Amino acid sequence: MRPVIFKRTRLIVVLAVLFFLYIIFYKWHTSVNLRGISDRDGNESLSQREKTEIMDSEDKLTENEGIKNRYEKLVNSFDTENDIKENDSESKESEQETNKDQDENEQEDENEAYSKESEEPKELTPSKNTPETEQENQVNIEKEQVIVVLVIACNRPEYVKKCIDTLLEKRPADLKAQFPIVVSQDCGHEETEKVIASYGNKLKLIKQPDLSAIHGVAAHMVGYYKLSRHYKWALGQIFDVMGFDAAVIVEDDLEIAPDFYDYFAATRPLLDQDPTIWCVSAWNDNGKEECVKDNGLLFRSDFFPGLGWMLKRSLWNELRPKWPNAFWDDWMRNPEQRQDRCCIRPEICRTKTFGENGVSQGQFYLQHLQYIKLNDKFFHFRNKDLSYLLKDSYDSDFHNHAYMIPSASFSEIKSGKVSTTVVRVQYEDNSSFESLAKQFGIMSDLKSGVPRMAYRGIVVFIYKGIRVFLAPPDQWTGYE
Ligand code: UD1
Ligand code: MN
Repeated sequence: MRPVIFKRTRLIVVLAVLFFLYIIFYKWHTSVNLRGISDRDGNESLSQREKTEIMDSEDKLTENEGIKNRYEKLVNSFDTENDIKENDSESKESEQETNKDQDENEQEDENEAYSKESEEPKELTPSKNTPETEQENQVNIEKEQVIVVLVIACNRPEYVKKCIDTLLEKRPADLKAQFPIVVSQDCGHEETEKVIASYGNKLKLIKQPDLSAIHGVAAHMVGYYKLSRHYKWALGQIFDVMGFDAAVIVEDDLEIAPDFYDYFAATRPLLDQDPTIWCVSAWNDNGKEECVKDNGLLFRSDFFPGLGWMLKRSLWNELRPKWPNAFWDDWMRNPEQRQDRCCIRPEICRTKTFGENGVSQGQFYLQHLQYIKLNDKFFHFRNKDLSYLLKDSYDSDFHNHAYMIPSASFSEIKSGKVSTTVVRVQYEDNSSFESLAKQFGIMSDLKSGVPRMAYRGIVVFIYKGIRVFLAPPDQWTGYE
């Protein structure tokens, strides 16, 4: 019995070993085939593998680096966009040459800076809080939608630090890619430059190369000439050299409201849709606490407010050839430049200036600017329909409303005799406007015949909780 059992056992062991070997061979063969290598069809399978690898890497690219690549393209496209430059004066050419040298040295760093910056997730439209839409939104960032924030800096290191800190702090993650920050520095002030440079990849620093003296101008006026020269150069850089399509200009003594970016993202389409809107500003000259109420309310303004304002490249193309040597803001308010166009402005300011020490010596700051209220409650402009601001509907609605509401005199309102929440107060001419404005405590001066924040001659503000339309006679035909 023993030998038979022994024989059988040996047979079973041999069969088991053979089976085991077969399993191992089979597994190896299948796995090799799965990886695309087969004896029968070697070449084709190998190229298949390559394809698989390429597809894999493309997938990774779309998922993780799509934005980065797009952004790199944008930054790289700055140079090619030089073509859009007009054959301007020689001085302009040499201005850009000087700057090119500087730029070429910095170009590599910049590209790296932007690509590093863009490694963080980004979206464009309001988040719906699902991963899928976040993906979609990320892919949607196009160069045309980018609005560069151009910070104008000179020699005030603490100011520029405060300004940049609020710009970075208040920028929502979903708008980061849409609003890159470029700081342009004039004045060659080293300490200020150090502060700006310390932000590294978070922004791009450019330096105004022409620091030459301004001759034949009274000392207290020199600043206005220098800053106008700086504006011209900086706007040329962002539009002509870097090729951005839109910009928000922020001076280094401005801080911003939490919904600053939301406001500009939401109003950008208005600039595209309505050629009678030439700017969107964050500023209301009559924005003192007691003169404002509604943080979602926007107006059209014939008066150019400045102080945190958005323009498109098309406007820059128009202004560039005639850009003034000084007082650029009042120049913008001249009828030749304005051409009956308006700006959008908020009821409650989305910027506030802390610039007590500056070119205009700060009197205006002490008397007025320091009392301006900066909006503190986030208003989701992007979720709102802003088409009421387009000229076709706005002009008739605004006019009809102003002349349908009850009218009253200043003293009636002051003494509490008015029971409505909205009222019209009529002025007859510029001097009666000025005296009424002073009584109400709003800005009383006019530039190029336009009262501050007026639209079609009408200035809207809050007085003792009542909304006042300070308006000319109904038959008003235009500014003097
Ligand atoms: C005022 C306006 C300002 C406008 C200027 C133009 C207010 C509160 N401010 O300037 O919006 O642009 O008139 O007439 O109404 N700067 C330079 N180079 C210089 C000096 C200044 O680039 O040599 C820059 C500053 O960094 C700042 C801007 O120009 O960003 C305005 O300078 P500032 O000193 O703040 O002047 P304001 O009196 O406020
Ligand atoms: Mn200032």
